[in-house]
Amino acid sequence: MTRSDSFINWFRSAAPYINAFRDRTFVIAFGGEVVADGKFIALTHDLNLLESLGVRLVLVHGARPQTEARLNAKGVQPHYVNGTRVTDALALGCVIEAAATLGFEIEALLSMGVANSPMAGSSIRVASGNFVTARPIGVVDGIDFQHTGLVRKIDAEGIRRRLDDEEIVLLPPLGYSPTGEIFNLTVEEVATATALALNAEKLIFLTDTPGVINSRGQTISELTAQEADELLKSGQPQPEDVAYYLPCAVRACRGNVPRVHLITRHVDGALIQELFTREGIGTMVARDTHDVLRQATLDDVPGILALIEPLEADGVLVKRNRTLLETEIDRFSVLIHEKRVIGCVALYPFPGEHAGELACLAITPEFRNSGRGDHLLRRVEERARQQDIRELFLLSTRTGQWFAERGFQETAIDRLPQAKQALYNFQRRSKVFVKKIPDNIPHKVNT
Ligand code: ARG
Repeated sequence: MTRSDSFINWFRSAAPYINAFRDRTFVIAFGGEVVADGKFIALTHDLNLLESLGVRLVLVHGARPQTEARLNAKGVQPHYVNGTRVTDALALGCVIEAAATLGFEIEALLSMGVANSPMAGSSIRVASGNFVTARPIGVVDGIDFQHTGLVRKIDAEGIRRRLDDEEIVLLPPLGYSPTGEIFNLTVEEVATATALALNAEKLIFLTDTPGVINSRGQTISELTAQEADELLKSGQPQPEDVAYYLPCAVRACRGNVPRVHLITRHVDGALIQELFTREGIGTMVARDTHDVLRQATLDDVPGILALIEPLEADGVLVKRNRTLLETEIDRFSVLIHEKRVIGCVALYPFPGEHAGELACLAITPEFRNSGRGDHLLRRVEERARQQDIRELFLLSTRTGQWFAERGFQETAIDRLPQAKQALYNFQRRSKVFVKKIPDNIPHKVNT
């Protein structure tokens, strides 16, 4: 593929997202670190880009390192209980100072019309205000959290009006009470409550690490709210900020936010990659679908047969009879919709070669083009990773294009594992495709 081909392919594949995101609300949350590290300038360009595509943006910032610095300067030890600051009067003063300063800094950066930048000449209007009403956490397990609060109400109507006027709304980690008090809130609390109140399309957290990790320390690309909840209950340690954000992701999905994303703040353009590619870069937590994707059992055999027989008749899939299917059922995953098998896929490992064959990927006609094929593909990739499979290959006569768009490359027959080459059916003249399974580098975990 030439460079311009791949650009054109990429642009075409991004178009549906561009279309889907117009006039939708995204709530983007980030800790004060993003500004402290000087990373906000790059982010500004991407926010500007989103804004120019008609995305309605609400930014929520934290102020922890800046608050800490102020407390340190006063020689005070910060006081946290389970990750939540106990805010006494002195700490509240520091939080307010830190948040105010940061707010101005962020506004300044968003106002910057950098000549020579991709977005030179465009301007962003920023709105802030008393959109968040808070209440005190109070005394929990004998600890008085004092000025630390929780969100009581978000003025969704007020925020919507600002967004209607094409402004970006910037929210600090603070809220006010009806009696005029100021409360210190966490960035994730404000962001989650705001996304829920606005019926946001997305809630996005910028994180210090690549995303949510599995027991092998690998980044999980996608999981449902249900799976995320189970992961949390399993006690699997997560990087510190992910540990704060993931429960919020579950809460948002269980409300009405369809997708929550956790994306590294350390990779330039990560936001764009996550939003405009199918596979993204970080972790996406999606509201539970009605579909269930699970390991196939013998009871699924009739359903799988009904699904693949028309495709076999068409010559798209190789013929598999009932007995073969029954013996190989452990290799299959099925996608169930309203108790019916609407999709299947199989993975045949070749452990000696650290390779695996993806086979028999099928979706019922009425459910095609709904992203379910991608769902099955991701499942296989995830399973492959768990089984230490580094290369996924497949044979295809007609569906090569679909796989090529998803990172598979055509290759020669002799690249197949030996055992598979022996079985290659020269009459069928299938093309061979291969994809490397990125071996995620495990990263440091703070427990
Ligand atoms: N670009 C799509 C979206 O924004 C899909 C992102 C998938 N991300 C992932 N980490 N699996 O909804």
